[in-house]
This record gives sequence, structure tokens and C-alpha cells, in this order.
Amino acid sequence: MTLLILGIESSCDETGVALVETRVEGQVPALLSHALHSQIEMHKAYGGVVPELASRDHIRRVLPLASQVLAESGKSLADVDVVAYTRGPGLAGALLVGAGVACALGAALGKPVLGVHHLEGHLLSPFLSADPPEFPFVALLVSGGHTQLMRVDGVGRYEILGETIDDAAGEAFDKSAKLMGLGYPGGPALSKLAEQGDATAFKLPRPLLHSGNLDFSFAGLKTAVLTQAKKLGEELEPRKADLAASTEAAIVEVLVKKTLAALKQTGMKRVVVAGGVGANRHLRNQLNEACAKNKVRVHYPELHLCTDNGAMIAMAAAMRLESGQQQASTEYAFDVKPRWPLDSIAPTVA
Ligand code: KG4
Ligand code: ZN
Repeated sequence: MTLLILGIESSCDETGVALVETRVEGQVPALLSHALHSQIEMHKAYGGVVPELASRDHIRRVLPLASQVLAESGKSLADVDVVAYTRGPGLAGALLVGAGVACALGAALGKPVLGVHHLEGHLLSPFLSADPPEFPFVALLVSGGHTQLMRVDGVGRYEILGETIDDAAGEAFDKSAKLMGLGYPGGPALSKLAEQGDATAFKLPRPLLHSGNLDFSFAGLKTAVLTQAKKLGEELEPRKADLAASTEAAIVEVLVKKTLAALKQTGMKRVVVAGGVGANRHLRNQLNEACAKNKVRVHYPELHLCTDNGAMIAMAAAMRLESGQQQASTEYAFDVKPRWPLDSIAPTVA
């Protein structure tokens, strides 16, 4: 039996809605349509995400986006079998919008709902690509709020091998970009500027590179970039591309070397990269090269599905349902989990 799943993402500054359909056993579920509204323009004026504005905007966007994906795939609300939403982690008010709308829709339609872990969505998003991975694999999860290396043996079977002890990789991009005056969100802007720079121009630290474990630390790097920017003073402007390239090289080198160490430690020959920073070109190039050398297969989400979206939420719901890890529920009383470690997700709805 196939299931039509409506997925809603509203954990931060992107409202995403998508329709995913499960297929016959053994086949990866299919993405029928997805729609996204990014709040970047709205938050730009404040240099970062304003939680209250984010929640209000999700309220405005979510139902029109749902109508759009239904229309695009020739489906109606009555065809939806399960409504999935991001239950956490993320901004509490923003999460509540998606959860509230999903549960109201479920109750009105008499269809069950399912709360999804946002990072599980990122982790499983490469299954939406033309070259889906196979379990088991090592996952490098690099987003604005998280940096983790995980051992993934199947849906819901996640073991954290290492993670950041302070800032996330995306945060390192964003904060460095901000102090170079590149605006918000800084990752893509810094990466673009870095293309014209010399990555060897400045010597920046590679924190915890030789720590002997798989943990990360990026707070010191940000401080080193700040010190360098201050030292440059008036000279910063003409050297900005060099500083951007040096910063990107430092972040990417640590991510790539730790990923290789995780592959060595687990003996695995497959790696999946997920989360917003997975869109970074330099990271992809360096990782592709390193993996080719080590005969490791590497999988990415489609570029446009690296950052937050509804497709990954509908997909994670589909895969949890198919694997029997979770059942959708007709208990419409919802809660959200602004903080929620991925390796603690319960196999069924509480
Ligand atoms: O996964 P995501 O959309 O949101 C979270 O769940 O956090 O990731 C957003 C992060 C931001 O820090 C953004 O600057 C970073 O991903 N990012 C990039 C690139 N595109 C997005 N960082 C470096 N290079 C990029 N091309
Ligand atoms: Zn995300």
C-alpha cells in the first residue's frame, strides 16, 4: 500500500512543505512536489534570525505552500494519508506553528500525524537524490546549529561518533562572514568571495585536528579570524577575499580530515553529507578528492535540498513509517522539542 505524506518544516527561517509518496517495498519513496519560502530577506535587516518574526511569517506561509504542493502534484487534501511536521530541534515558537498546523490538519482530515526530528530529515535527505545511499554509512551532519559525525546503521539507528564542543561549522561560516561585513546568512556569501581569494594567505588554526577523537571546535577559529581582521584594519577590504578563502580552507580541512578519521575508525566505505554547509563547493571538492583516493563512496543531497526544506521531513517520515520505527498517531495533542539530541529519538510517538 502506498502512503501520501504531507511534510511541514518550520524549525527556523524557512517554511517548507512537500508531498512524498511511499512506493512498493524495496523502493525509495518518491518526492512528488515541494515548495519553500525563505525568510532570509526579512531577517537580513537584523543580521540574524528574529524568532518572533520567524513564527509570524511561518503562520502566513504554511497553508498557501501546502495548497501549492497539492495543486502541483494534482492531489487534494483528502488524498493525504499522514501529516508529518518538524517536532524539533529548533526555535520553539517557529516549531509550534508547523506542529499546530499539522495537528489541526490531521484532526480535520481524520488522518494521523507524525513528529519528525529535523536532523534526521537532513540525515536522510540524500535518499531524495538521484544517487541514494545504502545503509550503513558514516554521516557528516553540518548545519547552522549542529556539527556531528554519526554512524548510521539504518533508519533510527544513529550513534554519535563526535560533535562540536562549541560552535557549529555553519556558525563558524556565519560569524566569520559577519565580522567581515558580509551580512546574513554568511556561509554562502563567504564561500562566494573565497573563490577569488588565496586560501594560503593567512595562517588560521585547525582546532582539534590532532585531538585523537572525532570532536570539533570552531569558536577559536572565529576569534582568530576576528584578530586577523582587526590587525588588517584599513587593509581588510582589499584582503577580504584572501581572508574568506583562508577561513573556508580551515573549516573544510577539519571537516574532511575528521570525516576520513571516522571512516577509518568504523571501517566503513560510504559517507553521507547533510545539512546547509553540505552545499559548500570547496567542501564537496575536497571530500570528493579524499574519498576517491580512499575508495569511499560519498553521497550528498541535491544542492537545493541541503538547506532546510519540507521534502526531507516528509522523506524522514516515510522512511520511519516504512521501517516500522514509528507509527503515525491520532493523538493530536502536540509538543515540540527545541532541544532534542538525535541519538535519543524514541522509536514510537510518545
Ligand atoms: O541546515 P541549515 O539550512 O539550517 C540549520 O538546520 O541550521 O543550515 C544553514 C547553515 C548556515 O549556517 C549557512 O551559512 C550554511 O548552512 N550554508 C553554507 C553554505 N550554504 C549554507 N555554508 C557554507 N557554504 C555554503 N555554500
Ligand atoms: Zn536544518
